[in-house]
Amino acid sequence: MSGLPVSLIQALREVVGEAGLIADVERMHSYLADWRNAYRGQAALVLRPASTEQVAAVVRLCAEAGVALVPQGGNTGLCGGSIPDDLGAQVVLSLTRLNRIREVDAANETITVEAGVILQRLQEAAAEAGRLFPLSLGAEGSCTVGGNLATNAGGTAVLRYGNMRELTLGLEVVLPDGRIWDGLRALRKDNTGYDLKQLFIGSEGTLGIITAAVLKLFPAVRSLTTAWVALPSPRAAVELIGQMRGLCGDRLTGFELMSRQSLEFVLHHVSGVSDPFADAHPWYVLIELSDTQPDAPLNDMLEQGLGEAFERGVALDAVVAASEVQVRALWALREGISEAQNHEGPSLKHDISVPISRIPDFIARTDQALQQAFPGVRIVAYGHVGDGNLHYNVSKPLGAEDAAFKAQSEAIMQVIFDVTVNFAGSISAEHGLGQAKRDAARHYKDPLELELMRSIKRAFDPAGLMNPGKLL
Ligand code: FAD
Ligand code: MLT
Ligand code: ZN
Repeated sequence: MSGLPVSLIQALREVVGEAGLIADVERMHSYLADWRNAYRGQAALVLRPASTEQVAAVVRLCAEAGVALVPQGGNTGLCGGSIPDDLGAQVVLSLTRLNRIREVDAANETITVEAGVILQRLQEAAAEAGRLFPLSLGAEGSCTVGGNLATNAGGTAVLRYGNMRELTLGLEVVLPDGRIWDGLRALRKDNTGYDLKQLFIGSEGTLGIITAAVLKLFPAVRSLTTAWVALPSPRAAVELIGQMRGLCGDRLTGFELMSRQSLEFVLHHVSGVSDPFADAHPWYVLIELSDTQPDAPLNDMLEQGLGEAFERGVALDAVVAASEVQVRALWALREGISEAQNHEGPSLKHDISVPISRIPDFIARTDQALQQAFPGVRIVAYGHVGDGNLHYNVSKPLGAEDAAFKAQSEAIMQVIFDVTVNFAGSISAEHGLGQAKRDAARHYKDPLELELMRSIKRAFDPAGLMNPGKLL
């Protein structure tokens, strides 16, 4: 039973209605653990308001009662940011009923959507208007715009279109005291002081509740070509991306790296996939070129780039997708890694970035340090080369016990983060800090930056009721 005062529960029920309040522990279940079951918590209630006004009223009531809120979208985050602590006193605030597309302004190339809209639905709405919303990631069928904003989500098209920060023009936010900030401006230029929306983007629910956003649209893609290329090394990947960028410019819209180990997990655990090549190779990249013109000569460009790469020994083998089905099959190999790694026991996820030029040395140095300190661990390295962002994940040695491996997770993380910082990198490039990397950030981030971040947190949320225990 919830430990909240009965009068508060009654007042909350009046705001959100019976459909918007979950007090039953069984029904709360899916809100209290992430999809990997890596994080679990307890909550006093789950609330599901259906409008910005309802969110504001809920936040006001909880602020007056001193009750902490944990915002939640699709619950696909990878660092435990949307999961409450295990004391059972926090309230999960699910935004999934705020799911309206409020406006498409094709002439302004913008779309205004509510926080609970699923990313895939947003992409489809853009397509219906003859436009592209370019954010694309493996969880797009379940993650929400609010979660994308709160984590500044990246994905596979960042090298061309930028991450959520670059895609956002305006926000509507319910502040920690329940006031509504209407920053839903659809402007590309606005120099009237601090850019407040950027504080909320990437704040992981610690400064306020995002309820709606104005997002940028782009011209629809009318030509597309996708290739799967085998490479001898990560250095070859860095050479190849430089070459393809020089040749294709902005037509290069995807360049995803994966190691043989990553591919083997996918081949083993994901149904309906197959290795595009007869022989095994140490590394692969998935290359996507696209253009707004129909019949753009993308295959010619790809052939020219790959031809030069073969001559220089940068590429070892390549296939080009000949149909939509084959395009999907190649992407399935890349997008299947997260799921596949789950079947191999606990996956220690590290979401680092370094300058693109330093990716090869980072991988070589970290591989060596890890194998020396933790012999037999399986390194599952893949990621977004164009962003310098590697998912340098680690699975347990074959035959090792889950518990023994988990007990080493902090020490493994330290090895990886030490090398990352040595390479002038970031310990979290894409997924955020949540509860997974909050303590590491305390250790690795500049103390002055942390002090400024704490001041911002105090200014917005002096009572500390917005997603406490996350990020800071
Ligand atoms: P949730 O998981 O529900 O929440 C994430 C954080 O945002 C939490 O801190 C939560 O409190 C906060 N939050 C949620 N909604 C709001 C709101 N309305 N207002 C304020 N705070 C809020 N991420 C990438 O960036 N790139 C990838 O390529 C990528 N690939 C993925 C692939 C898979 C298979 C999976 C499972 C995840 C992947 N992710 C990736 C991580 C995840 O999908 C993203 O972080 C996504 O943006 C989270 O959205 P969500 O709605 O599920 O948010
Ligand atoms: C991806 O790019 O596939 C995800 O961000 C990484 C992950 O699941 O670790
Ligand atoms: Zn990623």
